[in-house]
Amino acid sequence: MSDGDEILNVQDLSSGYGRSQVLFGVSLSSPRTGAVAMLGRNGAGKTTLLKTLIGEIKPMDGLIGFDHIETQNENTEKRVRRGMGYVPQEQAVFTTLTVRENLALGAISQKDKSGIDMVLDFFPKLGERLEQQAGTLSGGERKMLAIGRALLSKPKLLLLDEPTEGVWIGVIEEIAERLELLAKEISMIIVEQHVELALRVADYAYVMDRGEIALEGTSENIKDDPQLLRYLAP
Ligand SMILES: Nc1ncnc2c1ncn2[C@@H]1O[C@H](COP(=O)(O)OP(=O)(O)O)[C@@H](O)[C@H]1O
Ligand SMILES: [Mg+2]
Repeated sequence: MSDGDEILNVQDLSSGYGRSQVLFGVSLSSPRTGAVAMLGRNGAGKTTLLKTLIGEIKPMDGLIGFDHIETQNENTEKRVRRGMGYVPQEQAVFTTLTVRENLALGAISQKDKSGIDMVLDFFPKLGERLEQQAGTLSGGERKMLAIGRALLSKPKLLLLDEPTEGVWIGVIEEIAERLELLAKEISMIIVEQHVELALRVADYAYVMDRGEIALEGTSENIKDDPQLLRYLAP
């Protein structure tokens, strides 16, 4: 996808762990508003990609253009200040702190504390559980809290790693609707196992296979692409 004014423009990105290379020349972009889906079977490299984009892993090669600035050599804090947000796949909340305390920590660097009210408006369920320890929340509520915390830094681009993993089916729809709303305001890259959901929320999709982009296109086209199932099969 390329129309000249993307918030994110990644070119030939390679990265991995130590000497073990996982990503091989990944190129992708994301528009200023709207969601991009990142699909692919387990082990394809999706999490490694997001970690490289947010700066947890140093790339071996390639460019990460964010808002017209090359950020591949910057640390995570700098990238977050520029407007990247990240909701990791693994536990992203402080389990022994309450919902209120988790959100307060997320807002700690903000002078304006109204962000917390904004998050509670966005996820009313969290408002009902403010004094509850995050470790006792349901899977869906934890994901909402993790997304809510990431929103407190007012990201221009939100990287979401499996936002519905471990979420009860009845709550998945609720999260999907919130993400659709968010996609009208900011840019998002959504890594998802629920392909139908991802392709509904996103306008454009990439499919990763063994650390490379194997397939890309509008969600509409990818949905009907006969190769899709091949790349998703375990
Ligand atoms: N910390 C790590 N050290 C070494 N290899 C890793 C590490 N994390 C992931 N990998 C390897 O990188 C590959 C891609 O993993 P990952 O990015 O988590 O894929 P996905 O998110 O698509 O399931 C896998 O082969 C995995 O074993
Ligand atoms: Mg992963």
